[in-house]
Order: sequence, then C-alpha cells, then structure tokens
Amino acid sequence: MDRLRITGGAALEGEVRISGAKNAALPILCASLLTAEPITLHNVPNLNDIGTTIRLLGQLGVKTHNDSEHTLTLSADSIDSLEAPYDLVKTMRASILVLGPLLARFGQARVSLPGGCAIGQRPVDQHIMGLEALGADIHIEHGYVVAKATRLKGAVIRTDMVTVTGTENLMMAATLAEGTTVLENAAREPEVVDLAEMLIKMGARISGHGTDRIVIEGVKSLRGTEYHIVPDRIEAGSFLCAVAATGGDITLTHAKPSTMGAILSKLEQAGLNMTVSDHSIRAIMKKPPLAIDIRTVEYPGFPTDMQAQFMAMNALAEGTAVMVETIFENRFMHVQELIRLGADIDIDGHTAVVRGVSQLSGATVMATDLRASASLVIAGLAAEGVTTVERIYHLDRGYEKMEHKLRLLGAQIERVSSKGVQ
Ligand code: UD1
Repeated sequence: MDRLRITGGAALEGEVRISGAKNAALPILCASLLTAEPITLHNVPNLNDIGTTIRLLGQLGVKTHNDSEHTLTLSADSIDSLEAPYDLVKTMRASILVLGPLLARFGQARVSLPGGCAIGQRPVDQHIMGLEALGADIHIEHGYVVAKATRLKGAVIRTDMVTVTGTENLMMAATLAEGTTVLENAAREPEVVDLAEMLIKMGARISGHGTDRIVIEGVKSLRGTEYHIVPDRIEAGSFLCAVAATGGDITLTHAKPSTMGAILSKLEQAGLNMTVSDHSIRAIMKKPPLAIDIRTVEYPGFPTDMQAQFMAMNALAEGTAVMVETIFENRFMHVQELIRLGADIDIDGHTAVVRGVSQLSGATVMATDLRASASLVIAGLAAEGVTTVERIYHLDRGYEKMEHKLRLLGAQIERVSSKGVQ
C-alpha cells in the first residue's frame, strides 16, 4: 500500500493548477446515461473515484474514450445492464447517482445499497423517497435498491434534510419525467449548479438551481453535448490551508473563487493575505495563522469537506478554535492522528476544541478518509521532521497528483509504494 513521506518545515512557494471538481464530475459522468448521444467532458480530474465511475458506467454498457488526459467522451447509445453491483458501490457511495438516470431513461434499475461509511451512517432514504414521489415502485431486495417505473411523473418533493447527491439524483431523474418537478429544500452547492448547467446543455429545462427550490420541466429526450467541469473548490481550499499552515507565497490558477466565499472569508480571518481574481488566487502567509472558529453547514455556509484541513491549520494557530461538525456524525477521525503529531485537541460530541501549539512534530499517521488524509498531509508539511501518512488510497480518491503539485511548490514529499520511492 502506498504512503507519503513528508519532511516538514518548508514554506510553500510557486504556482499550482487546480483540477476539475470531483463532486461535479461524478454526477456529470452519470448524466451521460440520460442520452443515447455522445457527451464530451473537459477538465475531468484524473482520480480514482473517476476511474471507479467509468468502470461502473462501462459495466452498464457506456463506452468511454479518453480524448486526452482530462477530456473524455462517453456514449450510452446501447446499454447492456441496469445493475450497479455491490463490489463497486461499496468502494464509492456516489455510485448511487446512476439510480435516477437509469430509472428515468430505461424504466428500471438495480443499485446496491452503499452500506456503512467511515464518516457516518449516510443513508439514501431521501433518494428513494423522492423517486417514489416521482412514481417509481421501489423495494429493497438482497441489499439492492430495485426500482421500476413506466414513465416518471413530475411531483413536488421536499427532502427532510439538504442532500447534495440526493438533489442531483432527483434532478437527473426529473429531466425525463412527464410534467413539472419542484425540488424544495434543494442543495445549493456549486457542484449541483454545475450538473444543472450541463443538463440544460443536454436540453433539460431547469431553473432555480443555486437556490433551495429547483424547478424541472420534464422533456421526452436529451441530447449529447460538450461541457467543461467547474474547478474543485475543496482542492483549492486545501492548498490555501497548506500555505496558511506552512507560510509562503502561492498562486492557484484555474480556480473559481466565486464558489469559495465561506472558505476564503475564514482564511482571511486566519490572516492569509489573498489577492483574488476571476480564476486565480495569490495567497501569502508570513506569520502563524490565527485560530478560527468553524461550524460546518450546507452551502453557502462553511463546507464539511474543509473541516479537517482547517483543523490542521488551527492546530498551529495562535489561540483556541471551536469547530462544530453538523453534517456528519463521525467526522473527527483525523483528531487522534493530529494529536500524534503534537496537536492539542479535545472532542465533545460534535465539537472539537483546538488549542494552537507553536510546533507539530513528525510521526507516522494513518489516513482514515479522503479529507482527513489532506488534513494529515497539511499537518505533515508544517511539522518539524518526517511525517509518514499511511493508507493514502483515500487521498488518491479525490486529489489529483497531490504530492506532485506540492513538490512543485517546494514541499519535500514523496510517495513510497511497496515497490519503493516513486
Ligand atoms: C456530498 C459530497 C460530500 C460532502 C457532502 C456534504 C459528493 C459525491 N459528495 O455527499 O463530499 O461531504 O455532500 O456536503 O458530492 N442524508 C440522509 N439521507 C439521505 C441523504 C443524506 O440522512 O438520503 C444525510 C447524510 O447522512 C448527511 C446529510 O444528510 O448527514 C448530508 O448528506 P449529503 O448531502 O447527502 O451527502 P452526500 O451527497 O453523500
């Protein structure tokens, strides 16, 4: 299993290109199931989760052609199977995103229930409830969601909580339903907006995306299109946390700062000096960060996907930060590992109290989930001595060539595989 070996202490300097957003690319790839015509996608990040999605789509019969490293053409003109098997779904919960499109276009689907997840229970009851409201007949059989419908029918659907992939699944299903669907309490995340924009280019009639009320007027069929995936705000935020923790002067290119309001405002409060333009951010840090209180909420609030990285920064901050996680029940697994690096953190339920220390010291730590891995890398970059981050397959799911990008910024970081240093 690969690990990362980081010799901490170097300030980060230079330029880094931000990749396309994983969480936009995953539903957009699944949207290719909604049409028989080819879809060409640009700015697709090269990640393990994208590979898993392409494999899943391939099993269903979708043909994929890699036009270049970040451009793909997908064609779902003939489908061989309507089943997403457990083996793939268990490695990536977002596989549930094939349910809405398969049901809408082919009238049936069989998708494995995702099962447990490291950061919390994460049920898919809202996806099922919404599809039932659209007229689908759904039952659970041998661990699979088995769904059938003749043609879905528009409905008003109000989910019990704001769910990102739930909103995406229902929005995709509703594009081909008969009549109008209204999604109330919809997720407003930029990735939901990106999917809506892509569906509109395919001929869908959608309005209100970016608000909590999305209206979809169903159409008979959708067409092929070409689309450029939005930049990854979480990857961009992670690099900014890294420079805030290590000090230095970096510029992010190909980013979309307008999707990063809450993240940038918190970093500014932490003392990160930023110059923001339409697609780039220059960030300078000359002193230790200031402790920043955080409460994770749905967009446009502070994202749960940035909580762990901010905790690494807060671990080295001047002062004490109170960090409250409201989205997932078990998203503090990085805390015990940060403590191994010398952080001073107490957890009480959903709240972590982080008392900044002046120095972390390198150690071997274990990544437990995607964003926790990024947090440990950030802490390792700032720590004195050598930090080894194990189980980085989590990191590879959602960060494109992170160690390569960090090396370009002057970090001393290398991937050690069972075959040796790479
Ligand atoms: C998406 C993101 C993930 C991010 C999360 C919250 C993708 C691929 N992943 O995950 O990176 O951390 O949004 O911003 O986009 N819930 C239910 N029942 C449901 C659906 C959700 O109880 O049917 C609960 C979840 O357990 C969680 C909360 O609602 O507590 C929000 O989850 P949700 O927004 O659905 O997260 P994901 O879409 O899985």
